[in-house]
Amino acid sequence: MVTVSFNNVWKDYGGGAVAVKELNMDIKDGEFVSLLGPSGCGKSTSLRMLAGLEHISSGEIVFGNKVVNTLPPKDRDIAMVFENYALYPHKTIFDNISNPLKQAKISTDEIKRRVTDVAKLLEIEQLLERRPQELSGGQKQRTAIGRAIVRQPQVFLFDEPIAHLDAKLRARMRSELKHLQHKLGVTTIYVTHDQLEALTMADRIAVMNDGVLQQFDTPQEVYQNPANSWVATFVGEPGMSLMEMEMTRVNGDLALAFEKKTINLDSKNSARLNASGKTKLLVGIRPDKASVSLEEVAGGINCRIYSRQLLGADVLVEVEFGTSRVRAKADTSFVGTVGTECYLSFRSEDMYFFDAENGKAIPH
Ligand SMILES: Nc1ncnc2c1ncn2[C@@H]1O[C@H](COP(=O)(O)OP(=O)(O)OP(=O)(O)O)[C@@H](O)[C@H]1O
Ligand SMILES: [Mg+2]
Repeated sequence: MVTVSFNNVWKDYGGGAVAVKELNMDIKDGEFVSLLGPSGCGKSTSLRMLAGLEHISSGEIVFGNKVVNTLPPKDRDIAMVFENYALYPHKTIFDNISNPLKQAKISTDEIKRRVTDVAKLLEIEQLLERRPQELSGGQKQRTAIGRAIVRQPQVFLFDEPIAHLDAKLRARMRSELKHLQHKLGVTTIYVTHDQLEALTMADRIAVMNDGVLQQFDTPQEVYQNPANSWVATFVGEPGMSLMEMEMTRVNGDLALAFEKKTINLDSKNSARLNASGKTKLLVGIRPDKASVSLEEVAGGINCRIYSRQLLGADVLVEVEFGTSRVRAKADTSFVGTVGTECYLSFRSEDMYFFDAENGKAIPH
């Protein structure tokens, strides 16, 4: 168990491909950190640099108080699960999982016990005598997880380890992996592009975009206080809607002008926006904080339904007015369909405010 740090780390693959830019991150001993971001943002590259599989262009990677920049992967005491499984094709599933234990010279009985336990947990007990080519993608993925968790390394590195499992198994594995990591207390860095996975599992989430760390904080903070409009729309499903608004005055009070309408502000947000000195804003609202109604609502915005999607327990309604579109959750009993006229409303207290120039959150 160990702390892990990126100190001003860059990765330049050459030919203009800078995959990771000025990455600074201190991961605590025993912490579960999720690297979250869209495809190509530099997640795997960051993880591979931690593993020692990729040289860093500049900066330092530190385990505990030791700079490991030039330490080979086998000397870093890490267990990894990568996208491509990397199983031994000629070994059975049992031998694949037990391989790290054999190398650690653990007794045959103990190996059998540990492999059986792990296989049970991952629901692959009946496959232990098979070889990797006789398994489905999801079963191979679970074998790779088994090989990683069968021993207790200093650091777990997971790269989308459950991406190929079906939704039900994925939900169960999220809970099992989290439980196991908590029990073992092994520092874990877990790459995913799935914000739900990051929100549900991580102690802290590192949100990346285009090689740049956008925010590194608890799931709650990232969700409730996104550092910028990009993080705000990436985290949360269905995503936050953004509207371009301008500050205006109504009878001396600060208000927001939006698509030829005026939106009043609560006193707290009014003071906050006044202090920012900004005039152009991106205003965000999460779908569960916006409501639509077919009847006219005081202060509601008159609009039309653009799309309607059943989510199961409720309905996601996207409404359109002017050049803006906003998503709102409604009860399944809501009868509006595409093209229906309706009224959108949300409270000023539930709005998120970002600087329209650079997307940064307006300070509280
Ligand atoms: N060996 C390489 N040589 C050159 N460019 C590379 C190499 N590996 C990755 N890249 C580039 O670096 C960037 C980051 O890649 P990386 O694999 O880290 O993304 P990722 O966040 O893991 O994406 P995904 O979710 O698709 O796995 C991408 O633009 C990619 O094309
Ligand atoms: Mg990747």
